[in-house]
Amino acid sequence: MKPAEAQAEVSDYWTRRAPAFDGVASHIAQASLWRDVLAAAFEADGAKDVVDLGTGTGACALIAASLGHRVRACDGSEGMLAVARQAAEASGLDVAFEQDLIEDASFAPDTADIVTLRNVLWTLPDPMAALRKAHLILRSGGLVLVSDGLWSTAAQYRSTYPEMLAASLPRHDGLTEEDARVMLTETGFGPAQSWQHLFPASPYPGDVPMFVLTAKKG
Ligand SMILES: C[S@@+](CC[C@H](N)C(=O)[O-])C[C@H]1O[C@@H](n2cnc3c(N)ncnc32)[C@H](O)[C@@H]1O
Repeated sequence: MKPAEAQAEVSDYWTRRAPAFDGVASHIAQASLWRDVLAAAFEADGAKDVVDLGTGTGACALIAASLGHRVRACDGSEGMLAVARQAAEASGLDVAFEQDLIEDASFAPDTADIVTLRNVLWTLPDPMAALRKAHLILRSGGLVLVSDGLWSTAAQYRSTYPEMLAASLPRHDGLTEEDARVMLTETGFGPAQSWQHLFPASPYPGDVPMFVLTAKKG
């Protein structure tokens, strides 16, 4: 399957799932924990420019906005963004949402202090391209935050992507912390720091191995 076909299927899949996504999402069930962990991991001393790549229903974008940051976000799925926009409006938070694939998004180089990618790398045809985009958008000294998990270990967190689509995604089984550390280093980021220990228990019932990592652009 060609990457462009895979990407179109992925975006359609998330638009179909969008209306029910927040009902099962960890960032809603454990909202204050995620807020505390992201607040700590951002290590921000004041309002920063944040970009959330693959924002979905706005999990990280809305938390960042609630922490007082200036937030832009993109997603390829129109349906997920519709839910994100509604959530922003309902909570009075200001986020500039853009419907675009990460690789095509219009965020200019060197314009962000923090870039977040939560539960996105596993579903990309080219996850390294997304990390390169994050590196490009960040200012020198800026921080990337990557969170994901080893989704193959728990049936309830597996996508229901058709077999051919799943087979075309290099990280469809999910990622370990070690995988992500290697990918961040290969992209040119500095040493990664982990933050998942700040959760009192795994934020994903079933104890799926997950991580929250940050690393800086040199
Ligand atoms: C599992 S959801 C995670 C959403 C959100 N980051 C979160 O933490 O809840 C994956 C999201 O990635 C989006 N996505 C997948 N490929 C993408 C791409 N190439 N560019 C932008 N968004 C993409 C999907 O549309 C979906 O909303």
